Amino acid sequence: METPHPALSPEGRGDGARKQAESRALWERARRVMPGGVYGHQNGAALGHGHPRFLARAERARVWDVDGNEYVDWMCAYGPMILGYGHPAVEAAVAEQLAAGDCLPLPGPRMVELAERLVTLTPRADFVVFGKNGADATSWAVDVARAHTGRPRIARVRGAYHAARPWALPHLPGVPAHHREDLLEFGWNDLAELAGLFAAQPGAIAVVMTTPFDHVTGTAPAPGFFAGLRALCDAHGALFVMDDVRAGFRFHLGGSCEHFGAAPDLICYSKAIANGHPLSAGLAREGLRAAAERVYFTGSFFFASAPFAAALATLEVLASTDAIAHIRRIGSLLADGLADQGITVNAVNPGPVDTGYAPPDVHAAVAAMFPGGRWGEPDDPARLIAWLVTDEARWVTGQVINTEGGFRR
Ligand SMILES: Cc1ncc(COP(=O)(O)O)c(C=O)c1O
Repeated sequence: METPHPALSPEGRGDGARKQAESRALWERARRVMPGGVYGHQNGAALGHGHPRFLARAERARVWDVDGNEYVDWMCAYGPMILGYGHPAVEAAVAEQLAAGDCLPLPGPRMVELAERLVTLTPRADFVVFGKNGADATSWAVDVARAHTGRPRIARVRGAYHAARPWALPHLPGVPAHHREDLLEFGWNDLAELAGLFAAQPGAIAVVMTTPFDHVTGTAPAPGFFAGLRALCDAHGALFVMDDVRAGFRFHLGGSCEHFGAAPDLICYSKAIANGHPLSAGLAREGLRAAAERVYFTGSFFFASAPFAAALATLEVLASTDAIAHIRRIGSLLADGLADQGITVNAVNPGPVDTGYAPPDVHAAVAAMFPGGRWGEPDDPARLIAWLVTDEARWVTGQVINTEGGFRR
């Protein structure tokens, strides 16, 4: 990358160094009362330069931190905000449900309506369960697969993330050693390696879990990959789980399997399903109903009705507008345009993605033009590129999805 793209014009120059006093004060307080300050992937120290940051509010595609700095949230809150913050149709449905009652001692009609809607939308699903986080759904799928097959082992793509649970992160401190033996890995698109696992572990593998495309490298499924995976599972009596937690509803209203042509036994959704309200779903085909009835799956908040109302409204907006096509159009435009400039981003889209940073010359040029300030409009590549190549963009490690703008009916 010799010279920056002409789109990186000086227009829209930023407004100087960002204020951070309030965020720093919160960080000091958090470190006293929380492990690591903030735990998990939102740890301010781990996120690097420019962090910690604490956010105060959000609207449509924008968020504001406690110091009043404004950002365009290309992360969509790590995935959930598919329609943007405070979408009126979703929030109206939630408000109505909250007024009627949310967390009650028994479930309400919204749960059944949503289950029916998902079964109708998802061709391979005959029944549904609901949890809160993606990990609830993927862990349920593993439990059902183990109950159905009577086998212990899980095969996943090397390095794939499916849950912050012992079965999925067996190498972390505090996890008993037997979880390491139960988790096997194979290369994305590498059916020969998966066949080798089945051959080496006869009768032991309950489930093969994948995402619709490789979230680690952004590689799309090779032609025949999902068909081959399906055939191997069938030949060896294992189940195939599609973890559509991150990509679900971003490619197709019926789930990413419809877009990529995969035929799993179980499907897991979360993130975008209720536009930011806490909900996940596990879906399965009829033949697994008996196993699912034996698995114990519950939680204090699993039956709360407001997130079901949010999901029904979110799916209705996705179904009645060109939202999904719009997201894909903008996302591709962004990822391709950045790739042309030698800048790779990690997008919810197969393609040349690698959570990279700009080459130093681009970085320096842009940093000089935009020392801070406001970072971009969703449809404005110049501002967007400028934002992505600054240090601030280090917090862009997940999804790049456009959320702002009205969708055409
Ligand atoms: C593909 C995938 N599966 C599962 C999960 C776990 O979801 P959660 O963090 O809501 O438990 C994630 C979270 O990022 C994910 O990206």
